[in-house]
Amino acid sequence: MTATPLLDINDLCAGYDAGNVLHHINLSVGRGEFVCVIGANTAGKSTLLRTISGLLPNRSGRISFDGHDLTELPAHRIPGLGIAHVPEGRHVFPGMTIEENLMLGAFSIRTSKDLGGRREQMLGIFPRLRERLSQLAGTLSGGEQQMLVLARALIMNPKLLLLDEPSHGLAPKIVDELHETLQKINATGTAILLVEQNTVLALSVATRGYVLESGEIVLAASSADLRSNDRVRTAYLGL
Ligand SMILES: Nc1ncnc2c1ncn2[C@@H]1O[C@H](COP(=O)(O)OP(=O)(O)OP(=O)(O)O)[C@@H](O)[C@H]1O
Ligand SMILES: [Mg+2]
Repeated sequence: MTATPLLDINDLCAGYDAGNVLHHINLSVGRGEFVCVIGANTAGKSTLLRTISGLLPNRSGRISFDGHDLTELPAHRIPGLGIAHVPEGRHVFPGMTIEENLMLGAFSIRTSKDLGGRREQMLGIFPRLRERLSQLAGTLSGGEQQMLVLARALIMNPKLLLLDEPSHGLAPKIVDELHETLQKINATGTAILLVEQNTVLALSVATRGYVLESGEIVLAASSADLRSNDRVRTAYLGL
């Protein structure tokens, strides 16, 4: 990792009206790095991503991104800095075509040349979408919808992709395709922070990871070291 990480979270506490969910989180993602956060149901994974993207304002600690202090900024300024957040649940607009859904992600691309270039790059990474551009998004399978929300988030060429449980509910074969797609995205230079309950997927695709339990980071190591860690093997890999 470079000396100054792209995303640098220090001593972050955040949560909802009922109280803090995240406790003193320290986490970083380098430029172009692929990092995962693994954790069980209700560990606070989605809360962490929502806090980074400014959807949850009540917090203490620091979140720095590419020279900016995110805690000082309103949520609507954060995508423009180069952070794309794909929340859990694969939300597409079912009554709109795939092309229309994709172009919704491109709202601030100014020239048609840039737009055409980004569109082509997305259809290169997601060839299945090209075959179905005029089809309604509501007719897509779960795996195809996941590809569409990824393409919609990536069309702005973000520096960092925040990705919440993309494998949830997908068949094993489709999870394998997702694995390849995430590697392709990262190979284009986009850093990824992936949160997943699917520990096998997360540790095979990311190079480094954190284990989140009840809102606290309890382990941080390379994916190889986490795969051989006794606590991870027992609690998360069922070995
Ligand atoms: N909008 C909300 N208001 C109040 N509490 C919430 C809200 N969303 C989540 N929580 C609580 O925060 C805690 C962490 O939830 P979070 O959704 O971040 O977990 P998660 O790790 O993403 O879980 P999952 O794997 O099920 O998606 C839980 O106890 C949850 O009940
Ligand atoms: Mg979640």
